[in-house]
Amino acid sequence: MTNSSEQDHVLIFDTTLRDGEQSPGATMSHSEKLEIAGLLDDMGVDIIEAGFPIASEGDFEAVKEIARQSNNSVICGLSRAIDRDIDRCWEAVKHARQPRIHTFIGTSPQHRAIPDLTMDEMADVIHNTVTHARNLCDNVQWSPMDATRTEEDYLCRVVEIAIKAGATTINVPDTVGYTAPRESASLIRMLLERVPGADEIIFATHCHNDLGMATANALSAVEAGARQIECTINGLGERAGNTALEEVVMAMRVRNDIMPYHTGIDTTKIMNLSRRVATVSGFQVQYNKAIVGKNAFAHESGIHQDGMLKNADTFEIMRPEDIGLSETNLVMGKHSGRAALRSKLSDLGYELADNQLRDVFVRFKELADRKKEIYDDDLLALVNDEGTLAANDHIKVKELTVVCGTNGPQTADLTLTIDGQDKQTKVIGDGPVDAAFKAVKELFPHGARLQLYQVHAVTEGTDAQATVTVRMEEDGKIVVGQSADTDTVVASTKAYVNALNKLLVRREKSAPAPA
Ligand code: KIV
Ligand code: ZN
Repeated sequence: MTNSSEQDHVLIFDTTLRDGEQSPGATMSHSEKLEIAGLLDDMGVDIIEAGFPIASEGDFEAVKEIARQSNNSVICGLSRAIDRDIDRCWEAVKHARQPRIHTFIGTSPQHRAIPDLTMDEMADVIHNTVTHARNLCDNVQWSPMDATRTEEDYLCRVVEIAIKAGATTINVPDTVGYTAPRESASLIRMLLERVPGADEIIFATHCHNDLGMATANALSAVEAGARQIECTINGLGERAGNTALEEVVMAMRVRNDIMPYHTGIDTTKIMNLSRRVATVSGFQVQYNKAIVGKNAFAHESGIHQDGMLKNADTFEIMRPEDIGLSETNLVMGKHSGRAALRSKLSDLGYELADNQLRDVFVRFKELADRKKEIYDDDLLALVNDEGTLAANDHIKVKELTVVCGTNGPQTADLTLTIDGQDKQTKVIGDGPVDAAFKAVKELFPHGARLQLYQVHAVTEGTDAQATVTVRMEEDGKIVVGQSADTDTVVASTKAYVNALNKLLVRREKSAPAPA
């Protein structure tokens, strides 16, 4: 590194599509992955970890397509320390303008025991696999998985081997979220001081949030000299998740006085990405989540509101616009026209093609007939819902009438259109949603298991739309279905059918991982 602006630059490595998607239930479809990758690229993410190409044919195809469509970001794929994995990774990422191979092996005593390698044997594996990766690609990242629980001497030894074999980035993962800020910093400092060649490469920090310290640990590592943060949108990731992109980026921006680093992220794109990731992963953002939670900019108490009206500085350390949040106010009513809808959606980060806008407008008018006040969140639910209704869906909800209330029996009278043919049934259930789901199963028998059923009110009031998320599993394949409607049972049935449609696509596409 030569000049001070380079020294202050922190690379943002987003792993939403790899470590985030690895979170059980967060599976995204091929088109959803491409869409998220496009948004990340557009936002200024330096490196996108697009997937784990050896894991499945679907992962391979997604990484390859993301590599092809990439504009500015480096596209990275993950591979174990096995030549066959690395070759497969290269086959996928090589289509990018700027490809990167990321290879890893668990170096802590706990992880070394799994392949049952001695320290010397593992050192050889590292030398051979990093050399192999470097022969394929100029840009190679190596990770000693569980670095924070690896003996320091051994960590220095293997990092040196990886650098000598050609790694250009060394990632230091806190795989189980075990470290704390001071230790996270001292580990990076120790590696910079002790490993020959450490000043020639970039150190990355990759933290998990098991103890709620992922953001603090990542920022401490940067203070000690790391210049790449690995993170995910909304902190999505296994268990308690990964470092949240929006938190580290906004922390360095808002507290630039004490953390004088910069990133290339266009922060005004944060909110839109957060919403899209929440929708496609089915992992809703908690209301009080820093930066992107629904309440992050809400000032409820009288004292706060009074202060805010006089001077926003009183309680706000950043402005909603900084993350692309437009004010949640009453936006439109039933007399609003198509141009107004287009402009409002554009403010919210959605540029729709004419045919998409036409469909959304029809649904907007229907909604405006049923709900007199339409807010930003209503429009977002509508657009996201529109995205889940694919023209080539095998199963569509045609009609639904339910009987519910104290007198029962709760009954669903449902007509589905399955591959163009209408099928109807009437089923009794334990409540209207149960009846509707049983009716779907009777008309379209399947063995998928319902893992999660979640209802969220999009806005306030009894006429609020409900967004329903349904997660289903079949033979290890997990899909998430969603839908929104002012009628909760209709939203539930459509979400269930949406999940089934996705499952059918997964059945068609899934093929065994290459041997
Ligand atoms: O947490 C971890 O150790 C990882 C590695 C594969 C980098 O995700
Ligand atoms: Zn991880």
